[in-house]
Amino acid sequence: MSITKKVFGTDKKTKKAVYEYSIKNKNGMCAKILNYGGIIRELWVPGRDRKTVDVVLGHDDLMPYYENPGYLGAAIGPNANRIGGAKFTIDGTEYQIPANENGNNLHSDNESGYHVRVFDVEEGVNSIRLFLQDEDGDMGFPGNKKFEVVYIVTDENELRLDYHFVSDKNTVLNPTNHSYFNLRGQDGGSIEDHVLWLNASCYTPVAAGSIPTGEILPVKGTPMDFTEPKEIGLEIGADFAQLKLGGGYDHNWVIDGADGQLKLAAKVTAPGTSRTMKVYTTLPGIQFYAGNFIGEQEGKLGAAYHNRCGLALETQYFPDSINKENFPDAVFGPERQYVSSTVYQFCNN
Ligand code: GLA
Repeated sequence: MSITKKVFGTDKKTKKAVYEYSIKNKNGMCAKILNYGGIIRELWVPGRDRKTVDVVLGHDDLMPYYENPGYLGAAIGPNANRIGGAKFTIDGTEYQIPANENGNNLHSDNESGYHVRVFDVEEGVNSIRLFLQDEDGDMGFPGNKKFEVVYIVTDENELRLDYHFVSDKNTVLNPTNHSYFNLRGQDGGSIEDHVLWLNASCYTPVAAGSIPTGEILPVKGTPMDFTEPKEIGLEIGADFAQLKLGGGYDHNWVIDGADGQLKLAAKVTAPGTSRTMKVYTTLPGIQFYAGNFIGEQEGKLGAAYHNRCGLALETQYFPDSINKENFPDAVFGPERQYVSSTVYQFCNN
């Protein structure tokens, strides 16, 4: 195990130094993480031949991360995904948050969301702890909040993210990480041939604007069914209303048997590689986004990114759960601290 640290740049807004931490295990797996946006900038995982491949999309320097419209690799907070109408009511008070997408809120805030913030850092042996604070009312969210996420690399080829959040007022807390994976490598082209399995017999369909309708529907007999491993591209273009709305897969799946303990939620393989990624989480939902709107952008080492060249598996409370009584409760405060863990594990099959 080793951790090294290097200067990555200076944040143009706060003038704070941005560092990149490399956490490496005995097998050569290495996660490179920025204290800017909590970004997983590189993730090198060993293949059967022990050669490592970088399986996450990202950029070579800080500049493209200042806006990062696709949220490549970033920590999202305090609330991930969408809140309908960009408002919610807690304890009788209505809160208005930024309406930054079609009158709704997406990923908290473009200017102050956690994906564009500089975190404080504490180094461990095989981990780093990134932490920051928000004041009551920041981005419209109630509560003085303390947020931390610990990134841990283990000798079992896992990258583990442990989240902890406290707030002195009831508020909505739903952080995630927005890495895009391509198991052939960050410049590996389309992920439509990747094979996905989800431990989910239901999903939460959306209406226009990708706001959940509130229903929890079975996937059986629909293109949303990944209960048996299936090529992502097989039905992504199907004439199915939900896929038209999301431009492909961009939905929350309801993890079967979620009970707050780490559960296997997803498994991905890529043909022609021996690589498998498993995602474990304590959370009740997982957003599978097929990268439908990545757009053309230059990635690391001159890679030409395009739609669907990476896939995101964002563990979370269900989108808009603050406005849906039947969804698991994402309100946390003095009486309920937020704790969650997500593990990305890599193995060779
Ligand atoms: C989430 C959303 C997608 C998209 C991406 C970022 O995954 O569900 O619709 O906005 O973030 O591009």
